[in-house]
Amino acid sequence: IVFANSVNGSICVAQEIADLIKSKQVKNELCILGLATGSSPIKVYEELVRMHNEEGLSFKNVVTFNLDEYYPMDKSSVHSYYYFMHQHLFNHIDIDPENINIPSGTISTEELHQYCIDYDLKIKEYGGLDFQLLGIGRTGHIGFNEPGSHYNSGTRSITLDHLTRVDAATSFLGIDKVPKKAITMGIGTVKKAKRIILLAWGHNKASIVKKTIEGDITPDVPASYLQEHNNVTFILNDEASQEL
Ligand code: GLP
Repeated sequence: IVFANSVNGSICVAQEIADLIKSKQVKNELCILGLATGSSPIKVYEELVRMHNEEGLSFKNVVTFNLDEYYPMDKSSVHSYYYFMHQHLFNHIDIDPENINIPSGTISTEELHQYCIDYDLKIKEYGGLDFQLLGIGRTGHIGFNEPGSHYNSGTRSITLDHLTRVDAATSFLGIDKVPKKAITMGIGTVKKAKRIILLAWGHNKASIVKKTIEGDITPDVPASYLQEHNNVTFILNDEASQEL
């Protein structure tokens, strides 16, 4: 779906998430959300916070699993996705802190492998993700599943692509300060979500959006695996859709 601008697209996505949360509340069920970071989802979170403040949307029945975190990364760092999610969403809503799951950037290297297995297990125990929100990196990554990622990969540590680190360099004030690794939910984990929405805004996403939607399904463009999902929508603005 192509929107004239990212604000309209974000409001539409926030409405779908709110409707899902409310439909679960009626049935007295938990709503399991997979959440993303980066600039793309910021307005969606802003709108959800507005709905919480002005329309009484409650997040008491919501459990969240974030896609990724830099590694190593302290929770308290302004560069952490832990910080990002609290700043943009969690600090402003009534979610139970116990229901927030974000990969830990401080887990020891010895514990990392088991930690990732347990992250996937926990999602499974909740019955899987009802909804997964995604952005897309210029390498075609979703979460931090860089080119080469296997279609059935689980949560794991990954080495970041050079282009991903270049794109992050401005906010880190220099590429040398961008971590070389991250923990990411796998392609397999993401693809098991019952519903997926990918957001892409702006000219600089147009080329990867075209490859993802119209190109071959290939590990060179990990987001292209989404072509195999039966309930995925790409929400774009005019600029991001220009090469389609
Ligand atoms: C980061 C995140 C991704 C995100 C991507 C795009 O690498 N790990 O989940 O989709 O950036 O970021 P932006 O939305 O700022 O373009």
